[in-house]
Amino acid sequence: MSVFSPDLLKDEVALVTGGGSGICKGIARAFVAHGAQVGLVGRKADRLEAAAAELSALGPGRAFALPGDVRDYAAMEGVVDALLERAGGLHIVVNGAAGNFLCPSAQLSSNGFRTVLDIDAVGTFNVSRVAFDKALRDGGGCILNISATLHHGATLLQAHASAAKAAVDATTRNMALEWGPAGVRVNGLAPGPIAETEGMARLLPPGMGDRLRATIPLRRFGRIEEIANAALFLVSGAASLVTGAVLVVDGGASLPQAMSVALTSPG
Ligand code: HXC
Ligand code: NAP
Repeated sequence: MSVFSPDLLKDEVALVTGGGSGICKGIARAFVAHGAQVGLVGRKADRLEAAAAELSALGPGRAFALPGDVRDYAAMEGVVDALLERAGGLHIVVNGAAGNFLCPSAQLSSNGFRTVLDIDAVGTFNVSRVAFDKALRDGGGCILNISATLHHGATLLQAHASAAKAAVDATTRNMALEWGPAGVRVNGLAPGPIAETEGMARLLPPGMGDRLRATIPLRRFGRIEEIANAALFLVSGAASLVTGAVLVVDGGASLPQAMSVALTSPG
């Protein structure tokens, strides 16, 4: 049962990159459950079709598969054109497409570093720029960029992803500054470790779950629906004065002294 009104996003059209899996599929599911029409973007058409069918069956909104690579600006123009034609508008953009893996900087190739920046940062720019040009500039709306907390300090084996998410956060603030006068809010959402996701499967070494959990003040990993709830808030009228912000949703995991909670007893 949602804490939000069931028709929170009725008449809204959203584009969610990375919406075929994981956290962003969860965000798309929440948008559809609150009445929105949602275009799902990713490279794997089959997975997108399956996700669109699953979410549409849940309703009351519906989802469409819009395959494409966020690194390809022309492809994103085609995706936004297709969504405008099918849904009749575009009001909300979620930039969640991302790539990541563990790799020491000393072993990372230049192309490996560039690839992650291209997907996360250039992809976020491309989709936002196309959406602003074709829809948001005239009708207003909001953009939500999915970030992380890797770059708040520094994270081992994550130079590429940290640089990429730092660029995403900078883009969030700069676009908020430039596009606010057009009635476009631009925010970020930075999840901490979220259970049952590709990101966690790739980044958490086997057998380390309990040790990591012990360093989180709330002493647990997040759930996909908790990120979806934060996304619902940020794209809704409840956040009408919020722009240029990056909301951390991580159970306190990135607080400067978080590691010390592993040494304490509850209370
Ligand atoms: C080192 C690697 C590598 C690895 C790829 N590369 N995987 N280097 N370790 N494990 C290098 C390649 O050797 C190549 O460089 C360059 O990266 C591009 O690789 P491609 O395979 O050609 O790239 P591409 O097909 O575009 O695939 C992108 C990808 C892939 C990022 C590499 O893993 C992907 O598609 N990922 C999407 C799903 C994903 O990553 N989800 C997790 C998101 S979680 P060379 O020099 O050889 O040409 C997340 C969590 C954030 O972001 C924070 C969590 C707390
Ligand atoms: P995920 O399921 O792998 O999601 C990444 C999505 O991005 C996939 O659906 C993938 O689809 C899509 N994608 C990747 N490259 C693309 C490209 N070039 N063009 C279009 N789509 C592309 O991973 P997740 O763990 O749920 O992560 C989702 C988001 O949350 C990411 O932004 C991630 O950085 C962030 N995050 C996750 C965690 C966590 O704990 N999992 C923590 C902090 C932040 P295709 O492969 O079909 O293209």
